[in-house]
Amino acid sequence: MAESMVGLKRTHRCTEVSSANVGENVTVMGWVQRRRNLGALIFVDLRDRSGLLQILFDENEIGREGFDKAYTLRNEFVIAVEGVAAKRSGAVNESLKTGDIEIIAKSLRILSESETPPFPIEDNISTKEDIRLKYRCLDLRRPDIQSNIIMRSQVATLTRAFLAKEGFLEIETPMLTKSTPEGARDYLVPSRVHPGKFYALPQSPQLFKQMLMCSGYDRYMQIARCFRDEDLRADRQPEFTQIDMELSFVDVDDVIDVNERLLAYLFKEVLDVDVKLPIQRMTWQEAMDRFGSDKPDLRFGMELKNVTELVKNCGFGVFTGAIENGGTVRGINAKGQGMMPRKKIDALVDFAKGYGAKGLAYIAIQEDGTLKSSFAKFMSEAEMNALVAALDGQAGDLLLFAADRNKIVYSVLGALRVELADQMGLLDKNEFRFLWVTEFPQFEWSDEEERFVAMHHPFTMPMDEDIDKLESDPGAVRAKAYDIVLNGTEIGGGSVRIHQADIQERMFAALGLTEEVANEKFGFLLDAFKYGVPPHAGLAYGLDRLVMIMAKRDSIRDVIAFPKVKDASCLLTNAPDVVDAKQLHELSIEIEEEQE
Ligand code: AMO
Ligand code: AMP
Repeated sequence: MAESMVGLKRTHRCTEVSSANVGENVTVMGWVQRRRNLGALIFVDLRDRSGLLQILFDENEIGREGFDKAYTLRNEFVIAVEGVAAKRSGAVNESLKTGDIEIIAKSLRILSESETPPFPIEDNISTKEDIRLKYRCLDLRRPDIQSNIIMRSQVATLTRAFLAKEGFLEIETPMLTKSTPEGARDYLVPSRVHPGKFYALPQSPQLFKQMLMCSGYDRYMQIARCFRDEDLRADRQPEFTQIDMELSFVDVDDVIDVNERLLAYLFKEVLDVDVKLPIQRMTWQEAMDRFGSDKPDLRFGMELKNVTELVKNCGFGVFTGAIENGGTVRGINAKGQGMMPRKKIDALVDFAKGYGAKGLAYIAIQEDGTLKSSFAKFMSEAEMNALVAALDGQAGDLLLFAADRNKIVYSVLGALRVELADQMGLLDKNEFRFLWVTEFPQFEWSDEEERFVAMHHPFTMPMDEDIDKLESDPGAVRAKAYDIVLNGTEIGGGSVRIHQADIQERMFAALGLTEEVANEKFGFLLDAFKYGVPPHAGLAYGLDRLVMIMAKRDSIRDVIAFPKVKDASCLLTNAPDVVDAKQLHELSIEIEEEQE
């Protein structure tokens, strides 16, 4: 039977009561974490979002009726207790913030009863994630998830406060809009009023924030929901949140400066971690050459070494063949992994194949210095020794080589490097290594579309010294684009934008976009640019990814209140779902039966 709280007012959250309140009357409300009966006494751990507080029910204090009611309490009942704060009669619980006190109950109301929950409301449970997400409302009660959600709120609040102080205005941009240039698939919303026409949900506020600069708002920020219909991963959701910003009359260094101070502020306030400024910078090319990745994890070394010159005349066809086809041979040294069993090495080879490798060549240096290798029979002793020396191989090391087109060599060794570091326990979640990656290529060749596509987006400014190569050598043009990387995750990215019509036209031409298509897609922005546009630049963070790393989690699902699962469905609401025929009719939509 549920009682009302009429006449009661909560005076404290659970952990707001402390030994300073001893002797005072308090009223607390929350969920029953646990009830223990000790004969004439009943103890209840009361939980709210702040933590736990012990309630003592003693028949002499609360009377027969109240005591009997306390006896009926079960886990997750919602109760209100009036009582007196007291020093604990029993042992102090050092692990609790309220471990030295308890509330001696004078009255009890049961505000709501609860069925037995499908899993315990506590940390470190082994319940499968799909069950947790189906009952997300209960999952969100668990302290570790709650602390993530609270941290996320903190990060958002602090970001707004910091950027407001720096002169940013928070401006909302539309959700029902046209396709934006981020390059993923759009989520579309059919229009009832315009049969056959669709809105696109924004992949980012990109075009709107650039127009706000044209409108003179100078510094814009928004904590903006973005939608991208792409394959999900641990750090990708179909809807996610950006901390988005744009600034006028700035260049790369200005954007980097304000963002370094923002990051340092957030890490200090939320985690009490000092971020050393300035944050290290590295060009894209250097990041690829040294780490095989445009988002290198700098918490460990294991850098790539280019051994192409050393092996170009060797007897191993896999190496020489790759080089003849314009590729390279590079290797990494997994320190101390030389005694790795064959089975585990084979698993690494399979892992590499997942990234496009045709194989993976290895040299396992045994403790006695002899070499075990998959390709020694094709090599001279001198050549083998030269390879070992090039990778600084010592007794007990495992050297791994990939030979292929550069793009594949980078992606294979880049991924292998992180996989090995994980296996070797080198990924310390308490360490935060930031890096700016700069000078991204302007274009990326798309085999699928057989044309250059924008690596960031078509409004990104080329580097001044490369503008002349837009027509003659587009593959060599570098952009004024930058990513901010934290522990091997791209937490944000941005660029200086093109604000000159002639450069924008050349950019569209290089991308193979006719004037007609460009106008069709982005005409409203190009029109805005005709009436006085300030030089501008910006950046957007993935808020989910930032908070994931701050909260030391492996998945952004743990820092999103209601996330979706791999197939982009929501296990809680069952979205996406079928809709009424009437709704479809209003939208002039017909569903085709799937043909076999
Ligand atoms: P970009 O596409 O790099 O840039 O996105 C910015 C940041 O958003 C995060 N992010 C995601 N997070 C979770 N799930 C996803 N599916 C997802 N996709 C991206 C990443 C990424 O770094 N308009 C530009 C920014 C600009 O140029 O100012 C943009 O959207 O952390
Ligand atoms: P094979 O002669 O194809 O059996 O290959 C000999 C060794 O080279 C095996 O260990 C393969 O895994 C390895 N290997 C094959 N292709 C490549 C490649 N592209 N890069 C590096 N090693 C390779």
